[in-house]
Amino acid sequence: MTTTRTQVGIIGAGPAGLLLSHILHLHGIDSVIVENRSRAAIEQTIRAGVLEQGTIDLLRELDVAGRIATVGAYHHGFDLRWRGATHRVDMQALTGRSIAVYPQHEVLIDLIARRLATGADIRFEVSDTQIHDFDSTSPAISFTDATGAARRIACDFIAGCDGSWGVGRKTLPDAKHFLRVYPFAWFGILCHAPVSNDAILYARSQAGFALISTRTDNVQRMYFQCDPAENPDDWSDERIWTQLQACVAGPDGYRLHEGPVFQKSVIPLRSFVCEPMQHGRLFLAGDAAHLVPPTGAKGLNLAANDVVLLARGIESFYHKNDRAKLDSYTPDALRRIWRAQHFSWWMTSMLHNAPEHNEFDARRSEAELDFVTTDRNAETALASVYAGAPLGE
Ligand code: DHB
Repeated sequence: MTTTRTQVGIIGAGPAGLLLSHILHLHGIDSVIVENRSRAAIEQTIRAGVLEQGTIDLLRELDVAGRIATVGAYHHGFDLRWRGATHRVDMQALTGRSIAVYPQHEVLIDLIARRLATGADIRFEVSDTQIHDFDSTSPAISFTDATGAARRIACDFIAGCDGSWGVGRKTLPDAKHFLRVYPFAWFGILCHAPVSNDAILYARSQAGFALISTRTDNVQRMYFQCDPAENPDDWSDERIWTQLQACVAGPDGYRLHEGPVFQKSVIPLRSFVCEPMQHGRLFLAGDAAHLVPPTGAKGLNLAANDVVLLARGIESFYHKNDRAKLDSYTPDALRRIWRAQHFSWWMTSMLHNAPEHNEFDARRSEAELDFVTTDRNAETALASVYAGAPLGE
């Protein structure tokens, strides 16, 4: 078996793994990334993506923000709509911060290109990945490479950035899992149509929740609340548009621009946290350690925050001979994770009709929307969490 030696062995070439590898590289720390999927599969799987101000700033610092304005778009506000009227939450005016709509796979295209241009060692299409000796000072990752050869990476630290179903979390011993499964899901579509709304729009209605987002001038991303057991094949374009229009309908006559749907899927909603996020020399970051329901789009931003903290810990270990930041990685990261859990749960509850809810709950949620859009302090608080605090605080 061929063994490669590096400082940090990273499992997963998603946002967490690639960001970690690149930040470490800029601090003179070596890493090797192993990844199950092919580069093409990673770059072509269309994913959601709202970047908080702090994530935009990080990508700028790493010099990989160049395409955000052209392929994506900066947004200064977002819309809340209920009872058939729309309210714009002007984040920029309220907080001085804004967000970008820039899908995750575009972030990955930029990061992979930048990493490979700086000579990074990324092994795509590996299988049988296993973690060894993370309780010792010389852990290792073993795997079968794309040619079928057995390989081993000997390292000082292992970062499990391999998502919810990865080997990182499976290997971490003695962790407590916190889980909440929601009784509804999102039906997500991509369609060819002109932009319907000049900001992301979250709608609450008797017909359920809907989210109107965008990808390009003629590709739109929209979601509506559905039963988790729904089969996308049961939904014709006509049925989809009838449902989406019902979710946004109102006395103001608001309508979405319709067009052919070219992708549809059902997305389950879950809140999940794994505590602690580390054991010995093994550290989890991103979806490997936590999941939020997509309302408010915190997932990618939380991964970026984990990575900033973990990179800082690894850097002080090597450059200052100080383990304190690595030791406090879990509590340091969990603070923002639990606040994002609260925010994502709150946005989800405020905007969806849960099956167990009655008319009282509907009125209560409308009152909450009224409060966060008319009380300036409440609106500023909402806008501030939506735009996100600086990373690594
Ligand atoms: C998108 C997804 C979200 O979950 C969200 O809150 C906003 C936008 C999107 O896919 O564009």
